[in-house]
Amino acid sequence: MIEKKGKIRILGIESSCDETAAAVVEDGRRVISNIISSQIDIHTVYGGVVPEIASRLHCQNINGVIKLSLKEAGLGFEDIDAIAVTAGPGLVGALLIGVSEAKALAYVLRKPLIAVHHIEGHVAANYISHPELEPPYVCLIVSGGHTNLCIVKDFESYEIIGKSVDDAAGEAYDKVARAVGLGYPGGPKVDKAAKDGDPHAIELPLGEVSGRPYDFTFSGLKSAALNHINRIRMMGGTVNVSDLAASFQYAVVTSLVERTIACAKEFGFRKVAMAGGVSANSGLRAAMQFACEREGMSCYYPEPIYCTDNGAMIAAAAYPKFLRGDFADLSLNAAPDLRLSGSLRR
Ligand code: KG4
Ligand code: ZN
Repeated sequence: MIEKKGKIRILGIESSCDETAAAVVEDGRRVISNIISSQIDIHTVYGGVVPEIASRLHCQNINGVIKLSLKEAGLGFEDIDAIAVTAGPGLVGALLIGVSEAKALAYVLRKPLIAVHHIEGHVAANYISHPELEPPYVCLIVSGGHTNLCIVKDFESYEIIGKSVDDAAGEAYDKVARAVGLGYPGGPKVDKAAKDGDPHAIELPLGEVSGRPYDFTFSGLKSAALNHINRIRMMGGTVNVSDLAASFQYAVVTSLVERTIACAKEFGFRKVAMAGGVSANSGLRAAMQFACEREGMSCYYPEPIYCTDNGAMIAAAAYPKFLRGDFADLSLNAAPDLRLSGSLRR
């Protein structure tokens, strides 16, 4: 255990997918700066993230993003207590840029290096928006690559109760959005279009995994949505994008909320949190909040800027590791398939 003298400031670096991000966070909760350089405009042209382009853009932008995060914080490298970085999971070429940068900084500045699991970062975003939140609680993690229902037992201890057996929730959003020409990333666009549509206009399957009540499946729902689009087009009709978006979102949200609440009830938790890009979804936030109030539970989700990828969540997740003295050495490598319970010290 590290003895804490004054405030602890951690520089968090994130480059696992298509955002180059750096932030300075004080004592794991207070964000002093948060810089995100999004590559979305470039990947949009290709309809999704192109891994090689992502790596090259991280390489080009990472120094500038880190410099800006310090400038905005009004701090120099000498004021930083540790360098934290996403070590996995994610795109290997993208992760390697952040990991190599963090290792170089830690070596030159003689500061501790902290390896963070990307999903642990998403969960920790809740501590920024809700400094009072403490484990244990149930957390629904919904991003472009993951859909996990887990129990956060302690700050660094997670038990996965359910997961998607096929597409992640964000992936399903992106695929349906692409099919109706809404572009990438589809989640925010479907969310917006859904506001003008009828959630019961098109009947879509909710998706169940037989014998596994906490697992999710979105492939049947996605196929049903794509079939609906093809059927209308083959008949020479025009797809009502708002109705499709609202009906699709209703099915995804119902499936996510029902399982999360059932899990909290069965395991006896009164606190429910959400994390990851899809937790920025307005329909999901409203439905989870409503269900929690009905059940007398407290509902937590990060502010939208901390739902999608950012460096602040990485610095927040690194804080308990700093206090424990859980530091990585310079052999740290990118781990594209890292498991949530996996060791980050390689
Ligand atoms: O967590 P994130 O930024 O990156 C990963 O770790 O994957 O999540 C990105 C995903 C994308 O699939 C995007 O479409 C989805 O989050 N997303 C949303 C919304 N905002 C982002 N999905 C639904 N509604 C939103 N408002
Ligand atoms: Zn993410």
